[in-house]
Amino acid sequence: MRKIAVLTGAGMSVESGLSTFRGGGGLWDEYPVEKVATPEGYAADPSLVLSFYNKRRRELLLVEPNEGHRLVAQLEKDNNVVVITQNVDDLHERAGSTNVIHLHGELMKVCSSRNPNDSRYIKRLSPEAPEITLGDLADDGSQLRPFIVWFGEAVPLMEDAIKAVSDIDVFIIIGTSLNVYPAAGLLNYIPYGVPVYLIDPNNVPVNGVCNLTHIRSGASDGMRKIINDCL
Ligand code: OAD
Repeated sequence: MRKIAVLTGAGMSVESGLSTFRGGGGLWDEYPVEKVATPEGYAADPSLVLSFYNKRRRELLLVEPNEGHRLVAQLEKDNNVVVITQNVDDLHERAGSTNVIHLHGELMKVCSSRNPNDSRYIKRLSPEAPEITLGDLADDGSQLRPFIVWFGEAVPLMEDAIKAVSDIDVFIIIGTSLNVYPAAGLLNYIPYGVPVYLIDPNNVPVNGVCNLTHIRSGASDGMRKIINDCL
């Protein structure tokens, strides 16, 4: 079986109705990133940060995986697949992908403010009670916070992602501007000569990647093309 790694970003979930971060109308236009996605922003105004992610969670519960997510999941029928996503939504899992590495955390989970990566204190919120507020505590007694990797924080799953990429046969990139490190640095670990397919309607900085095919389309059309013409 071929080993395929799929690296996804916010563009993967656009057809489901979720916003991207950058570009006209992106989330970071409406909410300053330093206020809602940094440890300093959280320390300065924890209520604002909790309510920002409560809102994101409510939005996520209203949307469904799109055809692109389903086609990525379908790759598992004939291939050994790892999905490495920068997305904090759970749409890959809901579409059926079983091996997903969430580099930037998971929106439906919350964790301890004191030990964010201690698995003993990580909890999944239910769709019936998807919000947390000041005063909700983790089992270590600290305030519960979103299980999100904020800017300036370490990315604990990066090593797993690098390992997963090191012996793949095909690499697919979908809907990421490759602006954010270390995630974007994964491209440096693609074995030399492996076919790399990039699905994005816009230009993305993929300099130095050889054997690259850029499919300028949305996630669903791009995945359909790869499955029909390239694999
Ligand atoms: P960006 O918003 O930076 O980039 C989204 C990409 O999706 C762009 O390259 C768009 O051209 C592309 N795109 C738009 N519509 C698309 C469609 N229908 N199909 C496919 N692609 C489409 O989002 P990310 O690269 O994911 O981190 O951002 C990376 C990280 O920055 C996020 O994980 C988040 C953010 O700050 C944290 O919150 C820690």
